[in-house]
Amino acid sequence: MSATLLIVHHTPSPHCHEMFEAVLAGATAPDIEGVEVLRRPALTVSPAEMLAADGYLLGTPANLGYISGALKHAFDCAYYQLLDATKGRPFGVYLHGNEGTEGAERALAGITGGLGWQRAADTVVVSGKPTKADLEACWNLGATVAATLMD
Ligand SMILES: Cc1cc2nc3c(=O)[nH]c(=O)nc-3n(C[C@H](O)[C@H](O)[C@H](O)COP(=O)(O)O)c2cc1C
Repeated sequence: MSATLLIVHHTPSPHCHEMFEAVLAGATAPDIEGVEVLRRPALTVSPAEMLAADGYLLGTPANLGYISGALKHAFDCAYYQLLDATKGRPFGVYLHGNEGTEGAERALAGITGGLGWQRAADTVVVSGKPTKADLEACWNLGATVAATLMD
């Protein structure tokens, strides 16, 4: 039986989309076996889909000193369903921001810490147009979190 890795993302711009594509490419690399990767825009993901996943990749721009309202909405709808049922599950985060992502990083640390999730890789933070190195870091993030779900 395969494990499920769920990418919950808010992707409102080409720069964010480049990061999403690189994370997805890493998570679905040929060496990753036995992991089904699902991607859901944060405004459409259901609490049932979040409950059913075995691990998570969370992607968002920094907006107004916080995570996007879209990703917050996903957790607003699912937090108490996830609490206790998902403790210990691995996750990774990628953020895009042009003015400072500290508030978004703090917010996700609080949310995932409250849920008891385990950070499986360092957060990737990008400002402006992603460089080749930034996209490699995104690829590695996707591959690393996916690899934690392999048997
Ligand atoms: C309403 C709004 C608020 C924003 N607030 C922040 C912020 O607090 N910190 C930050 O780093 N970037 C902020 N940004 C920039 C976004 O993070 C950025 O537009 C997004 O990551 C996409 O990047 P791009 O426009 O370079 O493609 C904000 C953008 C908007 C539209």
